[in-house]
Amino acid sequence: MRPNIDTKAALAATAQFYEHVKTVIPDVEWPVHAPYVAAINQLKKERNAVILAHNYMTPEIFHCVADITGDSLALARKAVDTDADVIVLAGVHFMAETAKLLNPDKTVLIPDERAGCSLADSITAADIRAMREKHPGVPVVTYVNTSAEVKAESDICCTSGNAVQVVESLGVDEVIFLPDEYLANYVARQTDVRIIAWKGHCEVHERFTGAELEQYRCNYDDLTIIAHPECPPDVLDTADFVGSTAQMQSYVQKQRPRRVMMVTECSMSDNVAADIQDVEFIRPCNLCPHMKRITLAKIYDALDTLEPCVEIDPGIAVKARRAVERMIAI
Ligand code: 13P
Ligand code: SF4
Repeated sequence: MRPNIDTKAALAATAQFYEHVKTVIPDVEWPVHAPYVAAINQLKKERNAVILAHNYMTPEIFHCVADITGDSLALARKAVDTDADVIVLAGVHFMAETAKLLNPDKTVLIPDERAGCSLADSITAADIRAMREKHPGVPVVTYVNTSAEVKAESDICCTSGNAVQVVESLGVDEVIFLPDEYLANYVARQTDVRIIAWKGHCEVHERFTGAELEQYRCNYDDLTIIAHPECPPDVLDTADFVGSTAQMQSYVQKQRPRRVMMVTECSMSDNVAADIQDVEFIRPCNLCPHMKRITLAKIYDALDTLEPCVEIDPGIAVKARRAVERMIAI
């Protein structure tokens, strides 16, 4: 539903937000966003709601309605601290499930339930049970990009920001690390723990190639390339820095490279560029179709109707929560 607010009033109410994002959102687009930004910020107060937004949300969400932003690890950690009654997770379904696991008594909303993830779809709880039978006694470390059912079969979760630390925290020689093959590969290069991997891939990051990045290096002098560890190994070999979305953001904020290419989802560069004017962003990027299902209009509807709500079977939730809490405790 369209919010019942006059565009002129909405433009006046949201002027300070537009000032922040004007370098990444064309001015012709702002009158479309402004009524939603104004109405969402008002509705949040009425509902005692907070919006947690992943770094891949578009700038009008990330900079203009979100209360808490970050990578998967930050969103999981900060979800624990909120005293709001309602959490809107502007991200994909597994992130909303993680927020619900950590806040079982709160209303957790995901503005579009179809916002999935190719990694989460690559593995089932039955697959984990089969892996355990094949490798008896070997602990299972599961990337948070998985369903609650899969987390429930796991010993501990990890994110791209803490994967090596989580693997090493177990004090074992060998772990099953699921489901991202490329993240597993990246972790294996940094630890002596033997990694047994799965063949899941992120449909966004697997499309980048090392050859493509080399071509950019030839076309642009003094280019700093930073990549997400879900990228294939030849991409990571070509990059100057590898890290989670939050680590990529903080790298650019601290190092201030002259020119940077963030090898990841497209909104990442937009969101960092809105904060930093003295870095040139070279933007070959791939869109995540799941993240892009989340829009201002759907966030407004979710807050208005308090739906769709995330619910997790209590038996699964108890076990899945244990794996997430074990990670957060590290
Ligand atoms: P981060 O935890 O690094 O934000 O990654 C989440 C994700 O889905 C990357 O594709
Ligand atoms: Fe999943 Fe990749 Fe989209 Fe992240 S970018 S949500 S890993 S499909």
